[in-house]
Amino acid sequence: MSAPKEVWSSRLGVILAVAGSAVGLGNFLRFPGLAAQYGGGAFMIAYFISLLIIGIPIGWAEWALGRHGGSLGFRSSPGIFHALIKKPYGKYLGVIGFIIPVMIYMYYVYIEAWCLGYALNAATGQLSVPGMNYGEFFGRYTGAGSDGVALHFGLHDVGLFVLIVYAINFWFIYRGISKGIELVCKYAMPALIVIALIVLARVLTLGTPDPLKPDQNVLTGLGFMWNPGDISEGLKNPQLWLAAAGQIFFSLSVGFGVIITYSSYLTKKDDVVLSGLTASSANEFCEVGLGGLITVPAAFMFLGAAGIVGQGTFGLGFNVLPEVFARMPAGQVFATIFFILLFLAAVTSSLSMLQPGIAFLEEGLGIKRKASVALLGLVTAIGTGFVWYFSKDLKALDTLDFWVGTLLIFIQATILIIIFGWTVGIEKGWAILHEGSALRAPAFFKPIIKYVTPAFLLTIFVLFILKNVFGWNFSLGDAARFEPTSYVRDLVGPNPDKVARLSVLFIALMTLFTGILVHLAGKHWATHPRAESDKN
Ligand code: ALA
Repeated sequence: MSAPKEVWSSRLGVILAVAGSAVGLGNFLRFPGLAAQYGGGAFMIAYFISLLIIGIPIGWAEWALGRHGGSLGFRSSPGIFHALIKKPYGKYLGVIGFIIPVMIYMYYVYIEAWCLGYALNAATGQLSVPGMNYGEFFGRYTGAGSDGVALHFGLHDVGLFVLIVYAINFWFIYRGISKGIELVCKYAMPALIVIALIVLARVLTLGTPDPLKPDQNVLTGLGFMWNPGDISEGLKNPQLWLAAAGQIFFSLSVGFGVIITYSSYLTKKDDVVLSGLTASSANEFCEVGLGGLITVPAAFMFLGAAGIVGQGTFGLGFNVLPEVFARMPAGQVFATIFFILLFLAAVTSSLSMLQPGIAFLEEGLGIKRKASVALLGLVTAIGTGFVWYFSKDLKALDTLDFWVGTLLIFIQATILIIIFGWTVGIEKGWAILHEGSALRAPAFFKPIIKYVTPAFLLTIFVLFILKNVFGWNFSLGDAARFEPTSYVRDLVGPNPDKVARLSVLFIALMTLFTGILVHLAGKHWATHPRAESDKN
């Protein structure tokens, strides 16, 4: 007798799990950094247009295809595409849907370990080690100073925390959908919102923290982040559109291959239209309403613009903020709970990145839960070890994030929307989307999904290539410059970077490895037309 089928235990459970996947470091670190960098207003316009044209439609497509694939007996991108497309190439379109979550997990979990370690060090008042400023502590802790230095296991080192977060993630993923992922999200999501509200209340009641600097107060802090600047000039900047669209994907976990797997555990009677919208709204509340009001305004009030500009996502979170908290009344408490908040946000996201891999290994190779967890643990540990060792300037992390966490997500999102709007067909796709639905999606989304979203993605993709590969500065005539970004120069420039090259080689090997697994899965599915992923 086979074990009971894996399902979400409630509608709220799946919404919290998808929202948990979405709400992550992207909301509290990446988003505020980008919005401040591109000057609030213009960035937000591009951001909300991207939400409407790519975030919501591709999200719905993913939910609908996932649930439909689940009803055909499959849970992973390769399996679902194999069942939907019914051609030998179908399953290979799912390769990227395996690679993205698995490879993002490899470096995301490393940052998750920083969050946990920073929370503990903040709680014990040890974020500033004598003789080291916050930047130096950050460099040593994360290994950004030089390769190999982060491979230590004391309280001031990241090593112990990498092991702890690995144990937590794999323990809960082993427990399965409802007893693992859903359980964690049920507690972690409300907890992180409560913590964020507490930290937000602290930030918004700081007034003018330094009377000698009256220009640095709550209002100017919010203004630094949100004042619109020159909107029409900003919107002419293609880089701003690239950043806004990329943030929508990263933040909503759309195009990751995660939602398609999560929704495959739903049944035909379950709604996906309203659930998808609710999870996206929860993410936007946490991103714009909480993340957007905490990090940058707080940093501005204490350090001014000079303390923020050019810091980048990690610098802001792990270098600037500890200093800000240290200057705040009861700062130790707020620093501790803020890093706990980051950790909770990260763990609900990293768990979601493991499930697609587990689902594929189970249904593609016909192996049981224990074996698939062990195999995925081994594969991801190799990647995390790579990022952990090659930590100088966070080069390996940054390279993987660029090629996998930005480029591959665009490609996967395009595959999804084409399959939904063209291969399955918009009419059938629309019907699948509305099975069991508690809400009808507005009909104008049909032409958006079929034409506008693919055209928008294509435009973004072309801009991406022009910017990164050809290095065009988007000026014409004499002002035009062509200098590829460092991501391309690191690979093929006159002074290539060894770690960047190794990172891209690693991505290529993972792609080959996944391709072989998918090929083997195809043979397995030829004799097992329905996956057996529900046998534990
Ligand atoms: N969606 C996740 C985040 O925002 C990956 O961090």
